[in-house]
Amino acid sequence: MPEKKNKLDMEKIVSLCKRRGFIFPSSEIYGGLGSCWDYGQLGVELKRNVRNAWWRAVVQERDDMVGIDASIMMHPQTWVASGHVEGFSDPLVECKNCHLRWRATDLQGDSCPDCAGELTEPRQFNLMFKTFMGPVEDEANVIYLRPETAQGIFVNFDNVLATSRKKLPFGIAQIGKSFRNEITTGNFIFRTREFEQMEIEYFVKPGTDEKWFDYWVKERFDWYLKLGVGEENLRLRQHGKSELAHYAKDCYDVEYLFPMGWSELEGIANRGDFDLVQHARHSGKSLSYFDEESGEHYTPYVIEPSAGVDRSTLAFLIDAYDEDVAEGETRVVLHFHYDLAPIKVAILPLSKNEKLVPLSREIYTELRRHFMTQYDDAQSIGRRYRRQDEIGTPFCVTIDFQSLEDKQVTVRERDSMAQIRLPIKELVKTLQAKLSGEPFDTQPLWATRTSDALGK
Ligand code: GAP
Repeated sequence: MPEKKNKLDMEKIVSLCKRRGFIFPSSEIYGGLGSCWDYGQLGVELKRNVRNAWWRAVVQERDDMVGIDASIMMHPQTWVASGHVEGFSDPLVECKNCHLRWRATDLQGDSCPDCAGELTEPRQFNLMFKTFMGPVEDEANVIYLRPETAQGIFVNFDNVLATSRKKLPFGIAQIGKSFRNEITTGNFIFRTREFEQMEIEYFVKPGTDEKWFDYWVKERFDWYLKLGVGEENLRLRQHGKSELAHYAKDCYDVEYLFPMGWSELEGIANRGDFDLVQHARHSGKSLSYFDEESGEHYTPYVIEPSAGVDRSTLAFLIDAYDEDVAEGETRVVLHFHYDLAPIKVAILPLSKNEKLVPLSREIYTELRRHFMTQYDDAQSIGRRYRRQDEIGTPFCVTIDFQSLEDKQVTVRERDSMAQIRLPIKELVKTLQAKLSGEPFDTQPLWATRTSDALGK
């Protein structure tokens, strides 16, 4: 049976992202830089909303979690202790003719996929980016750009424990950039060399780790569902024994049905006590925990849910993408969960008529204090609705000539395209309620569903 794929063509997403200012090829005026992408004016908002949704779910709304923001450059011993200097590598073969390198496990045949040249025997290639700290470029000054944010958490375990007064079980969350000199990149922002991770290290009493592992697998799977990802496009896959990373006792991937097939969105691993034991051994500092209840000292076990900001942003984009028909034309719409939508409200005066400008600007000024708001008065109202649909804006507020008289405006919802008319003074409160999930058809008494004001 052919492998199942998301029917959406990735090119449609890449093209929409470029056209509307979500994501651009990096350094494009110089021809771009392999697998590097820049987030534009909408992409930066979307990504910020993804981070905020994660932080809110795993830090803000929990008693047992705190956040940190560790340095990207860490003491080089960190990577010896973590096993990355020794083991963070891929077996690579090189083409003797064109010198392109390939991941040995990705190859079908025994010649170069690019030029059919002869290949070398596989060699281990470390994926960490190296650089030098200070003015002297010698081995003593080598440092690495972190390949994961996790280690910044482990080396701060004792600092956080001592200052936060948390007791087990508790976790530390971090969001930040990571760097890997990946051999095979591609599929847009799915696999890149510079990317952002959202990682949790959740410290538990040994023996309770399996229970907490199951808990976090479910918690993290549900997070994507709550943010609107279709259940049919999500699945859990347990790692086979041979696939497990050197530190992991068990691991599940949350997988998403991307256009190239089912692929990892997030990994949840039971890391046992590997990391704290390693760092204690290499640093000479005790990283054990004193359990006041039992009077024992022990090294906590760690459950690690590790997600990618860029990869989940891509999944949210793909899942939100839809084409339907509105007023006889194809409508491209991004059905983002409201929390993720880059722009929450658009202010659309019915026309550019100068009589509408003062009231429209006044409403815009008020709304932008509360929501990411856009003002758009160019082209027909229909075109402007389409533009907002295409970037996933949940609500459009239209100001018409009647608004000048009755101080009411029309609010149109993105998915249903339904409209309600309501007093301007109720606008902020109503939009806040709707953005928090109040159904759009729960209308206040004074509202009448109408499109009369638009003359339709
Ligand atoms: N600390 C564990 C760890 O880093 P990982 O499975 O290598 O585990 C976790 O990475 C997550 O980081 C992945 O599920 C993915 O979302 C993201 N990620 C990893 N490598 C990536 C890359 N080259 N480009 C984009 N995202 C990546």
